[in-house]
Amino acid sequence: MEVVILKDADSVAAYAADLVVELLRVKPAAVLGLATGSTQLALYRCLVRQHLAGKLSFKQTTSFNLDEYLGVAVENSQSYRAYMDREFFDRIDIDKGKTNLPFCTDGENPRLVGPLYEQKICDAGGIDLQLMGIGANGHIGFNEPSSSLCSRTRVKTLTKQTLEDNGRLFNDDEFQPRLAITMGIATIMDARRILLLATGKTKADAVANTVEGPVSAMCPASVLQMHERATVLLDEDAAAGLANRDYYDWTHLQNESLKNRFGIDHEV
Ligand code: F6R
Repeated sequence: MEVVILKDADSVAAYAADLVVELLRVKPAAVLGLATGSTQLALYRCLVRQHLAGKLSFKQTTSFNLDEYLGVAVENSQSYRAYMDREFFDRIDIDKGKTNLPFCTDGENPRLVGPLYEQKICDAGGIDLQLMGIGANGHIGFNEPSSSLCSRTRVKTLTKQTLEDNGRLFNDDEFQPRLAITMGIATIMDARRILLLATGKTKADAVANTVEGPVSAMCPASVLQMHERATVLLDEDAAAGLANRDYYDWTHLQNESLKNRFGIDHEV
């Protein structure tokens, strides 16, 4: 796993945005895996800026989000569809018909949504670059601790910790969903390249377990150790628990000098 530690959250977002720009330059019809949450906001702002500056077009891009709440209408401002439209899709030139979230319509059997979503990803040619955050408990998507490392898109029950962590985003009188439909861990692992962004002190333990702990369903993100091309992008606070820090910095320096000599490694 490649570990890149940068000085702050803005640098993390800018670094991730550069990788997206480079990917879309060489493959404008790339398939992006996207996430919601606070960490991704700075990245979306960077990408929107690049788009408005004329440096980036999403016209041919297809996207698949990691997850969506179950039991929340798309029009509800708390839905992940609403988040994506508000923070990203409405501000760029993506064809909304090519943006996908694992949404369950009223009356639809939620258990059927997962296999259909998997098929759609497959029909689109698979995910080129999966962007994502991490929960304080190590979850990726809504694959909570104890999720099968072989799981596919399905309904998941959120842990009490996740409900508490996300409670800040809901008013007292608002319904906070306890269920979501999320890509599974195996679905995420199928992506050709994975970029996990983590910023802030609250993520330090989860990051240390992910990068330096054993591969375990109790820290779902640790499965990234088994991925061929996973990069973990961290700010100083999120990197605070890493024992092997000097080596990651040293490796990053070597990679940057290779990049300066041979260009960004954009093969996905
Ligand atoms: C959201 C998602 C989650 C978040 C994670 C971190 O689509 O898949 O795994 O990435 O909960 O959320 P923030 O960034 O709000 O700390």
